[in-house]
Order: sequence, then structure tokens, then C-alpha cells
Amino acid sequence: MASSESKVPLIINGKRTDGRDMEDLRNLRIEVGVIPEADGSAFIEWGGNKIVCGVYGPRECIPRHGASPYHALIKCRYMMSPFASLEEHSRSGPSRRSTELSKVIREAFENLILADKFPNTQIDVYIDVLQADGGTRTASVAVAAVALANAGIPMKDMVSAVAVGKAGGMLALDLNKIEDNFGQSDMPLAMSHRDRKLLLVQMDGLLTRDEVMRILDMAERGCDKVHEVQAEALKRFYEKGEGETVKW
Ligand code: CDP
Repeated sequence: MASSESKVPLIINGKRTDGRDMEDLRNLRIEVGVIPEADGSAFIEWGGNKIVCGVYGPRECIPRHGASPYHALIKCRYMMSPFASLEEHSRSGPSRRSTELSKVIREAFENLILADKFPNTQIDVYIDVLQADGGTRTASVAVAAVALANAGIPMKDMVSAVAVGKAGGMLALDLNKIEDNFGQSDMPLAMSHRDRKLLLVQMDGLLTRDEVMRILDMAERGCDKVHEVQAEALKRFYEKGEGETVKW
């Protein structure tokens, strides 16, 4: 929801509203295996975002007539809880926005998962936003990638994601909610780690061609930092002792 003329001051004394420099990420933490019942799961806390993801599958496709004899169907359901933010004000159930986000997140993973290894099955990716603070679609991609890895689903590559944009006239990495809502532009994107392929790109507001090139470089560096946290979380999970509980 970027606006070209923001009345909200987004840069104060050269710093952003939360004290960050333009290329700083918000605090980021990922925990793996938070839902033992699921085949794979993870929780992400990224700035004020709190998002949990559970992965089930590959499992029997329901309804069976929808199955493909060639590949697994990837099903993705992004949902924001009614208490996730003030805007949600107790609304629950699917919305146009949750349908859109489920679609773009699913498409990112359809380009990564080796679905042809599992014909006639489906892989379910459930994403629940418990608290929202800007950039929930990119945080959802980051946490779902870790949950899929935890479920042992083979993927061509790992994917990381971050939202970049322009706030207070300056290019910025990892927009928070105020910057997303009142900045001039926001561009959420997801990038595969090894191949550097863009698997999700959306954009709101205006950027010049030169700004887009600069912001893509910034996003690439941001995705590398997110990847470090993803890899570290998986490593920590597999190094911990059997039966140790995972704290959210
Ligand atoms: O979350 P993301 O930035 O990917 O999507 P957005 O539609 O650009 O929303 C930006 C932010 O506005 C969200 O992260 C939420 O903090 C807030 N929002 C909300 O709380 N409730 C909505 N229905 C829509 C947006």
C-alpha cells in the first residue's frame, strides 16, 4: 500500500523509524520442528511478525480425481489470524488478500520442489500469521522453505526472501509495516540461493529503472543474510539431542 506522498516521517536524523540504517534487517529468528505432529514445521519471528508453518506430505491427494499421475500437487494456504493486527479487527477466514498470497507463495515453491518424484500425491503448506508487521509474504516464504526442508521434501535450491522499497525518499531493505504502508514503493521478492533466480517479485508504487537495479542488489545481500539464519536454524535443530523440546 505504498503512497507517493507520505505525510508520515519515515527518516529521522538519517535513521528509520525503528532506528535502523537503510540496509539493516530487523531482528530475525527461526525455530525448526515446533509442531512435532507435522512432517515439517518452523516458526519465524522477524521484527514484529510471528508466523508458524506446518508441512504435511507427500500424502494421498484429496480429492483423488484432482491428483496428477506426473507430479505432486503443491497446496499452500496463507492465513492471517483475526488477532494478528488492528486492520484484521477480528475478521477470520479467507480474503482476497490471503488468496493472492497463498497463490504467489505456492508458485515460488512449485518452481523449487522436485514434485515429479511424488506422482498422485499432494504436499500441504499451511502458513499462519499470528502477528503481522509488514513483509508477511516474504517472511512466509522464508519460514515455509525451512519447514519444507524439515519435512524432507527435495528441492532444487533453498529460497530466501525479503521486501525492499523506498521510504522517506531512500531505498530501504526489509520494510516494516509503517514503511510498507506509507513509503513510496515496496517490492517483496524471493530468490533461490544458489541460482539467484527470482521466484516471487511484486511491486507497489514507483521506482526508476536505476533504483530497481540498486534495490535488487540490496535485496540479494538481504536474502543472503536471511539464508544464513535459515541454514543456522536447520543446523541447530539437527544437532540438538533427541527428545529435546523446541521453544518457539
Ligand atoms: O505482509 P505483506 O507486506 O507481505 O503484505 P501487504 O498486503 O503489503 O501488507 C503490509 C502489512 O500491512 C502487513 O504485513 C500487515 O502488517 C498489514 N496488514 C494487516 O495487518 N492486515 C491486512 N488485512 C493487510 C495488511
